Amino acid sequence: MTSNSVLRVIDERRSIRAFENKELSQDEIEQLRQAVLAVPTAMNLQELKYSFILDQNIIEEISQAVIKTFEQEGNTEALERIKSRHTSIFYGAPLLITISAPEGNHYSEVNAGIAVQTLALAAQSIGLGSCIIGMARSAFAGSKAKKCRELASIPSDCEFIISIAIGHSATSKEPHESQPDNITFVRNSSN
Ligand SMILES: Cc1cc2nc3c(=O)[nH]c(=O)nc-3n(C[C@H](O)[C@H](O)[C@H](O)COP(=O)(O)O)c2cc1C
Repeated sequence: MTSNSVLRVIDERRSIRAFENKELSQDEIEQLRQAVLAVPTAMNLQELKYSFILDQNIIEEISQAVIKTFEQEGNTEALERIKSRHTSIFYGAPLLITISAPEGNHYSEVNAGIAVQTLALAAQSIGLGSCIIGMARSAFAGSKAKKCRELASIPSDCEFIISIAIGHSATSKEPHESQPDNITFVRNSSN
């Protein structure tokens, strides 16, 4: 176990898929807000838009819209996966953060990826659990897209990119199996 606090947080983060029925404190929310403000973006454009959704009814409505879209598409695989885990695709988290960006920015997805992992690590560092939720994208593309965009306050010129559910963990999880072979070192051959 490393004594470096950042590396420890990186190592200990997991995707949490069950949360306590407990609201976040103002202090916890403020710390997550501060983490967002520190996120780097290409050319420092800072175009990402974040919605901190703390209303359980809205979170549930977005989850239902995703399930409805999968039903309409006949995506039984996704529906089975959801059903085996929880009634909500956000696992009962008290906070859902959506990250969106203006269409056409070449680096939006990279920026949003950095932002969502920053939030996951910030949550871990203050004793909260999180799960990155890409599946939510279906709510913002299907028949319920207009309604869900309104519910999530996504600006009209922006597209949803990714979301993250955050709350007090009600479960623990083993680390994912790592793939050391994915890493190649390229060294100066004359050394
Ligand atoms: C871009 C992205 C999208 C993801 N979308 C979902 C999702 O919709 N639902 C879910 O339960 N987990 C989702 N995850 C979590 C992954 O399944 C998880 O990170 C992976 O299984 C490794 O487990 P770990 O996070 O505990 O290390 C997503 C992760 C990433 C990076």
